[in-house]
Amino acid sequence: MCAMTTENLKQRVDWPGQGVHQVPYRIYTDPEIYAEEQQRIFRGKIWNFVGLASEVPKTGDYVTRYVGDTPVVMVRSDDKSINVLVNKCCHRGNLVCTKTRGNAKHLTCVYHNWIYDLKGKLTSVAFRRGIGGRGGMPKDFSMEGRGMPCLKVDTYNDLVFASFDNSVEELSSYLGDEMRSNLDRVVGRKMKIIGMHHQYMPNNWKLYMENVRDSYHASLLHMFQAAFGINRLTMDGGIKLSSEGWHHISYSIDKSESGAEDAYKGKNLHAMDHGFEMADPSLIKKWQEFNCGTTLAIQSVYPNFVCQQIYNSLALRLCVPKGPENCELIWWVLGTAADTDEERGIRVTQSNMIGPAGLISMEDGVVGGWVQRATVRDGSSLTVLEMGGRNVEPSKNSRATEVSIRGFWNGWRTLMNV
Ligand code: FES
Ligand SMILES: [Fe+2]
Repeated sequence: MCAMTTENLKQRVDWPGQGVHQVPYRIYTDPEIYAEEQQRIFRGKIWNFVGLASEVPKTGDYVTRYVGDTPVVMVRSDDKSINVLVNKCCHRGNLVCTKTRGNAKHLTCVYHNWIYDLKGKLTSVAFRRGIGGRGGMPKDFSMEGRGMPCLKVDTYNDLVFASFDNSVEELSSYLGDEMRSNLDRVVGRKMKIIGMHHQYMPNNWKLYMENVRDSYHASLLHMFQAAFGINRLTMDGGIKLSSEGWHHISYSIDKSESGAEDAYKGKNLHAMDHGFEMADPSLIKKWQEFNCGTTLAIQSVYPNFVCQQIYNSLALRLCVPKGPENCELIWWVLGTAADTDEERGIRVTQSNMIGPAGLISMEDGVVGGWVQRATVRDGSSLTVLEMGGRNVEPSKNSRATEVSIRGFWNGWRTLMNV
């Protein structure tokens, strides 16, 4: 249930006009808008990424995760199906599973020992009949219909998604052809998790999701990428968008156009221009893994899921909201089951360079907090999202655009109904 009427929410957000090219800063800090997002977006008619089916291969395997900021458990049940349950005891609301992962025959709440089966059904209540005939639950107390609420679940390849809304469209149509085909390309093989990161950021979850869609900043904030030619806006590439722009793919193909490099010349961006070179070039060692020549593809699935290919660094990321001004980024760093030792080593090195303690995501992790700090008393002032125009159309030949961020706001306005 939404706590606020749409009319009140509209007044509170006070969206400037009809477009999606400017955003009031208050929506990154306001606790009431944050609470409405939990209801209207994360519990709305969308699919939320939860994890990989291969994380819970055996009956009773579970991992604890979040849908929005609601704790959930993803568990493999006796019939091999995957269930996503709200991690909340129906007695007095305690977390049922408190570990990150484990294996259990049933799920037991430690507070008063109420027990659930692997589909979340309540099967046992401690001291239900009292002790020595005294105390206990009333005679008409029934376990029927009580349990841990079960979300709707669907999978695509190994990816598990869940929804609070039973009437949500099919997952495959939610993703759409173009988004599915990139997921097939990057992670549609037999994959293997080679590591995980958890990155805490002092900013609203939407600032991070804007950053992920912001192809404009990639070679500017991340000087290392431009300096050593890993990602420059002069590379061939563009932006693919799902209808209305809810999901996006920003991609590059390594085939520099003649003269295009001039855009970087004289800007003091090239390490090589200054005679510097990397002492240990193994940091950027790579191999051509994809026949299409795609060197980089950052994909987001609305609202908070990311699939990353940066050369051979493959990863999934989920940005979990943690209150209006904090979020946690969960990373699944991936390889394939067919990787050679050398390939595995290259993936690990690249992923460390790109990950939270490396030279790219460390910067993305800090810049959102700086925005949050700078704008805290300026809720009514507006961002500028006009790079590449004001429309929400795919961009076939340029990544010097903020079009995918505008697409994100299209999704936000639709779901929030503002
Ligand atoms: S709160 Fe779970 S058993 Fe009491
Ligand atoms: Fe970035």
